[in-house]
Parts: sequence; C-alpha cells; structure tokens
Amino acid sequence: MNTYETIIPGGSASGTITVPGDKSITIRAVLLSAIADGVSRIIGISSGGDVVSAIQCIQQLGIKIEKNGETSLTIYGNGMHGFHTSEKPLFCSNSGTTVRLLSGILAGQRHTYIMTGDDSLKKRPMNRVTIPLRQMGAHIHYLEDDGFLPYRIQPAALNGISFSMPVASAQVKSAVLLAGLYAQGKTVIKEPVQSRNHTEIMLAVRGVEIDINKVKNEITLTPPEIILPAEISIPGDISSAAFFIVLASLLPNSYLVIHNVGINPTRTGILDILHSMGADFTINNRRLVSGEETADIEVRSSELYGAEICGDIIPRIIDELPIIAAAGAFADGITVIKDAQELRVKETDRIAALYVNLQKMGTTVEECPDGLIIKGKTGFKPAQFESFSDHRIAMAFAVAAAVLHGESVIHGSNWADISFPGFFTLLNRVRGIIQ
Ligand code: S3P
Repeated sequence: MNTYETIIPGGSASGTITVPGDKSITIRAVLLSAIADGVSRIIGISSGGDVVSAIQCIQQLGIKIEKNGETSLTIYGNGMHGFHTSEKPLFCSNSGTTVRLLSGILAGQRHTYIMTGDDSLKKRPMNRVTIPLRQMGAHIHYLEDDGFLPYRIQPAALNGISFSMPVASAQVKSAVLLAGLYAQGKTVIKEPVQSRNHTEIMLAVRGVEIDINKVKNEITLTPPEIILPAEISIPGDISSAAFFIVLASLLPNSYLVIHNVGINPTRTGILDILHSMGADFTINNRRLVSGEETADIEVRSSELYGAEICGDIIPRIIDELPIIAAAGAFADGITVIKDAQELRVKETDRIAALYVNLQKMGTTVEECPDGLIIKGKTGFKPAQFESFSDHRIAMAFAVAAAVLHGESVIHGSNWADISFPGFFTLLNRVRGIIQ
C-alpha cells in the first residue's frame, strides 16, 4: 500500500549525518559471500528493500545469513555450487541488480530456478543479460513475455566469451562476469564507456584473477577454483548522499557534513556536475575501505547554475539524474540532460516521471527522447508529487518540495525505503523540523 508524506518547506540543512550503505556494493557483497568458501562478514550494509530482496533470495537458496544488529551480516558461504534447490520462484521484488547479477550466478548452478519480480521489475528489459548469458551456453527460458521476467534458468555448461557490450550497464557486465566464474576459459568484456566497477573490485578482494585494461576498457576474468570469504565494510551510498548534497546547496545558510560516503570515481559524476553548477563542497579524509574510495563530504549553501549533462559522464551519474533534474529547476539558466535514454528503463520511465513532476511545480521543461531541457527558476509552486513507484523520484521531489514556496505532498513516499529507509525523517531532522 502506498503512503504519502507532507513536506514542510524551508530551514537550513545542518549537522553531521550518515546515509545507508551503498546498495550496489551491499548486493554484490551478499551474492559473493553466498558462493564463497567459508564465513564472510559485511559491515555497514544498506537495510533498504532491494538489499532485503537479495538477502531473501540467498536464504531461499539455503545459505545461512545472520543479522548482527541493524547493519552487519554474517554469511555462511557454501562454495560456488552450494545452493539448494528451490521449488518456489526467487522473487527479486523491485531489484534490477539482484535479478541480473544473481542470474549470472544461477546460470552456472546444478539446479533449475525460476526468477521473477514485482510489476516494475517485470517490465524491465532482460534480453540485455539473457543474450550474453545464452552466448555463454546458459539455458534460460522466458515463461510469459519474451524478454521479460519471469524466466527459468536450467543447469548448463558455460564457456567464456568475448563480449562487447552494446550499452554501458554495470548490471549486464556483472552478470556476465559472475557467469564467467563458472565458465570454461576466460571471459572478456569490452565496455563502450566504463560503468561502476564494484564487481571487479570485490572479485579481486576475494582472490579472483581479474585484469583490467584501462586503455581498451576491457576486463578479463579467469575462472577461479574457489571464492574467498572476506570481511567487507560498505561505504555510504553516494546516490543517497546526493539528495542531501543538493538539499544543503539549495537551502540558505546550510552547513552539512556527510560522513563515510563512497567516492569510487565510476560513481562521482554527481560531484563533477554539481561542481560545474557552482555547488560549494569539499571532500575530506579520503581513504580506501575494502578496496573502495571513501570520504566525508562537507557542503555549504550556494547559488547553482544550469549545466549540460551528456556523453560519457551519463553512466557515472545515471542514478543521480532525478535529483540533478530537480536541482536544475532551482538553478539559474538552463539545464540540459542528453544521451540518457537508459532512464526510460529504470524502476519507472524516469524521463516521463521527471517531466510530469517538474511541470507540477510550474517549471518550464521539455521532454526529449533521451533527456530533458529544464529552464531554471521558472516554477516554485508547491504540488502533489507522484513517486511513480520509484524511490529516486520520490526523494528527488521531496528535496525539491523542501525548497518550494508552501507545503507539498509526496504520494508513494514509502518507495524511498527501496534504498533509503528513514529518508523523510532525516530530511526533517537536518532542517530542525519536528513532525
Ligand atoms: C547498478 C547499475 C545501474 C544502476 C542501478 C544499480 C548496479 O544500472 O542504475 O541502480 O548495481 O550495477 P544499469 O546497469 O542498468 O545501468
């Protein structure tokens, strides 16, 4: 059932906060721990809905997982072929990362599994993973509509392939790499533009031989005998921090410190773009945690200016485009988002959703096939915003609502829990609003 949240605007964003652990890294840590030879500990996990989906799938496959407090897990890995059978379909709910990455692992197992998801996930394109996995020899059969969940994955002997990815997608890359663990021979992947590289980092941490050719944008994986267990610390999710960086930039007299945020360069397009828009922030205490660059981010209010966002940066900012579009509505000048057609196949069609909600607040906006053109400072009307069952749309417009001239409502506010449980409480707390 959908809930709604009323947003009282105003205040300044101040204090020191942390955001939930990185969703992408947490899901990879859960999946790789499940097929490791021994016990792994994961600290600082996200407790969002997508991570819960990954944990439940892994438990359904017979892997013991203990929760130690709110943010730590102990996972008793059962080796690369240690999953039990499951009569019941594996329900990945809203999580594209879970279904696509787990498909790579299940393609190399010795039992048959059915994978499915919620209404949103069942509308998302799956051929992008099934095509390369089938090239590797995987037996995958769509059960309803061709190209969409649910599907059945049956045991098969896999071969390493050389795969040139048509779209820069870390989920597709990761699915092929994880299937490559089970393949005969090496797997080589060439990306058009580098996408997030958390899988590569974590495979290396777990002893898998993985060579990166940065010049050719090529990754070569040699199938291992075993996956090592590990102790992994997860940094805060930069995609979640982004909402608060924009909030503190837009609200006057703000000074906000966000502790322990992942700043892996394949994810920091948001910092580059906000910097080019005039945001005032500093990155402090850079450190490496479990192979991932991590830092604290200190943000102060600033005047923002429109920017053009297109080309190779898009994969590095793909999940932050909703909040950047919202920021563009308050920036001086025009913000153009191009080459971002991938937004149309996310949890919802994010280009269409952004267009509808920006119009509701009176912003002059044009919808293009691959993005949006947003005329800043043209609309400040409070509105009844829709989440479109999408966590990032709900949060982007909650931030916008905090800057508008009057109370707004976010319908479907519960969707924020997919990646950021406690988001609305924190949005009020940093502004000193007690509801
Ligand atoms: C993710 C990759 C991206 C991103 C998603 C998480 C991942 O998707 O949008 O939220 O964890 O690998 P694509 O691989 O489809 O670009």
